Amino acid sequence: MKEIKKNVYWVGKVDWQLRKFHGDEYSTHRGTSYNSYLVKDKKTALIDTVWSPFGAEFIENLDKLISLKKIDYVIANHAEIDHSGGLVALMENIPDTPIYCTNNGMKSLKGHFHKDWNFMPVRTGDKLNLGKKELVFIEAPMLHWPDSMFSYLTEENILFSNDAFGQHLATELLYNDLVDQAELFQECIKYYANILTPFSGLVEKKIEEFKSLNVPVDMICPSHGVIWRDNPLQIVGKYLDWSKNYREDQITIVYDTMWDGTKNMAEAIANGIKSVDDKTAVKLFNISRSDKNDVVTEVFKSKVLLVGSPTINRGILSAIAGFIEQIRGLKFKGKKAVAFGTYGWSGESVEMIGKGLENAGFELLDNGIKSAWNPDEKSLKECVDFGKEIAKKTKYSKHE
Ligand code: FEO
Repeated sequence: MKEIKKNVYWVGKVDWQLRKFHGDEYSTHRGTSYNSYLVKDKKTALIDTVWSPFGAEFIENLDKLISLKKIDYVIANHAEIDHSGGLVALMENIPDTPIYCTNNGMKSLKGHFHKDWNFMPVRTGDKLNLGKKELVFIEAPMLHWPDSMFSYLTEENILFSNDAFGQHLATELLYNDLVDQAELFQECIKYYANILTPFSGLVEKKIEEFKSLNVPVDMICPSHGVIWRDNPLQIVGKYLDWSKNYREDQITIVYDTMWDGTKNMAEAIANGIKSVDDKTAVKLFNISRSDKNDVVTEVFKSKVLLVGSPTINRGILSAIAGFIEQIRGLKFKGKKAVAFGTYGWSGESVEMIGKGLENAGFELLDNGIKSAWNPDEKSLKECVDFGKEIAKKTKYSKHE
């Protein structure tokens, strides 16, 4: 535990060994933390808990700071298990203590734990008086679940934002200004790309709504990763950028390959792009050998996505099918795409990928390119020319 402001404590858990989150859906190369906070005033409030496996350790540590019976209020900003799991062990000790959460939070907590705890549903603008300080609740539906909310602590000017503005980063340094900035922002953009992209419209609206409250913000305390104390609004600015159909001057080529034919096409297309445009970053990923969340982060940064697969069984390779399903759910906007691939007999892959990309919200640049068998010199030259055309059609402009 650490005191982060007078009588406000971080009481969470740093999970250094976590490598997969949400089952196997999200890679956490740098671990994570489950941040919980304790606010002492005339009354004492606990904001969020930790993931279930750490529940016993969590209340043991908490009990060293304050007798559990002295916790007057529990705030559940979000019901997902990584923040609510510790409630089970906690509420065994303080079964009558009220839990403040949104109406959806109550539904979700009941659904997870099947307990009839003393729920106190709140709406935006509701306040909880702690003595000198107050907690003000702000509903934040779909950032990133329907139950999510923020809590703002007056006097100390702290926004407890739960998942928003967080990142999966294990650190003992706790604050944004103390950690490696490249690692920090890599984890922030990966988190946004993989978790928040579908809700970008709501991100922008919620930030504008919060800004219109005109309250000072000295700290943003998310539920994963570092506390933003140095220029805390910098991460809010990043979220605003990322929420507006974000793209950099980058083209990403994602493929899978059986006997290197589609890989050779990918490399020839990349060479074509580079030959007419040496400013645009071109990145290639064999999806079967890459971390899918890292690839999604690269797609998020891209203006154009090329996807390639050979034809197999009148379809596409399963890793590419999974990748297309993953990006469909993320609802990217303002990005262009094109398909490519080799074939031996029937050759459906390029059309199938194209349809999948369109269905995922990408604007197709054209019908794509296919090569029969192992691409020969002539076919590879066509791929180079194809890359040149892509580069010319999508040359970066800020006003594009
Ligand atoms: Fe960190 Fe949506 O839980």
